[in-house]
Amino acid sequence: MSFRSPDAGDRFRFAPKPLADSTLPSNLHRRKLIREGRALLANTAEKIPQYVGNDLSCASCHGGGGSPAATGIVGQDISMLPLVGTAAGLPEWTNRTHRMRDLRQRILGCFLRSMNGGPNAPAGTLPAYDSELIQAMEAYIVWLNKGVPSQVVPYWRNLKHPPDEKKVPIPKINPVRGAKLYLEQCARCHGPGGQGRANLYPPLWGPNSYNDGAGMGRIYTAAAFIRESMPYQNAHTLTNWRDVQDLAGFVNGHDRPSLARKPKDYPKTVPPDEAVYYKRVQQRFGYDQNPMAKKLKLAGLPTDTSALKSEAIPDSLARYGRPLRDSQ
Ligand code: HEC
Ligand code: HEC
Repeated sequence: MSFRSPDAGDRFRFAPKPLADSTLPSNLHRRKLIREGRALLANTAEKIPQYVGNDLSCASCHGGGGSPAATGIVGQDISMLPLVGTAAGLPEWTNRTHRMRDLRQRILGCFLRSMNGGPNAPAGTLPAYDSELIQAMEAYIVWLNKGVPSQVVPYWRNLKHPPDEKKVPIPKINPVRGAKLYLEQCARCHGPGGQGRANLYPPLWGPNSYNDGAGMGRIYTAAAFIRESMPYQNAHTLTNWRDVQDLAGFVNGHDRPSLARKPKDYPKTVPPDEAVYYKRVQQRFGYDQNPMAKKLKLAGLPTDTSALKSEAIPDSLARYGRPLRDSQ
């Protein structure tokens, strides 16, 4: 079962393919690049630590990490933000930087934010636009795209965000209720302190996770991902939109690395409500901090990497579904 557009039909079928000579182009240098690209997506922090400021790999969100046996499907797990058909949809417009971006710029954006790279990485900079490693990742993502028509959005591309009638307004998201759900649904893998286990379960917050300017740092995006992809290998069991939004509020109520350029994002528009780590959003809702963090603190729950204890969660949760603004 998939939650992606049920009315999409089967005009374009999702067909994962093996990385084999039969599916690869004949040019030997290009073949090598594609294989290298897959290895980089699967084990990013391990292969190019100088450009990665956390413990994630592209595969942590785009599938095919976790176990070594899964690396064959990097970007090809339909439940884990697949990258099949991505190349056909780029270049595309983005409000965040108010420009058209191509595939390499999209990859570099994930380095900067999801991988906490650029100024926060050991190298202190992003990989060069024209570097062999960016070309390798590009070559792999272009190979994944083979067979998908250009400028068509296949039904599995793009997360399905909560529809308007299911969207919980940001001040009403209840991260304390999310804490309870987290212990029930997520902690067995990601741990009571959200730190997971090295090379197996990626950290969800703290210094080794995605930074506060990443797509996953937004509430509705994270909710959509959780509903679509988690619990790992048991996806599509958490179908309730309220539950996944509260879970996303809990995860994104935590401390994580800071992206210094955040004030420069959305130069011509305003950051969306779901971008709770952004000052402009916090002020819009009457807070002087991340509203999710504020509620966790009011409930006496940690926002750092210390372990969440079930006995610390208040019995009465309803209060935390109200705004509880700083200014009130
Ligand atoms: C059975 C173990 C398991 C459970 C349960 C589980 N996850 Fe995951 N999660 C994973 C694995 C494994 C990955 C990385 C997948 C990969 O590398 O291919 C992941 C990736 C993630 C990511 C993206 C990477 C990151 O570190 O930010 C998020 C967010 C996430 N999980 C949230 C959750 C939430 C919220 C729940 C509870 C609803 C949950 N997970 C339940 C195993 C699990
Ligand atoms: C913390 C999770 C996370 C990590 C790690 C991550 N990404 Fe992403 N990526 C996302 C999210 C979320 C989106 C947006 C998906 C959506 O809205 O449908 C995305 C989108 C993309 C897209 C555009 C997909 C499309 O079809 O439009 C590309 C390309 C991409 N990521 C590449 C990468 C690469 C390369 C890496 C590693 C350098 C990486 N990502 C690491 C979360 C992540």
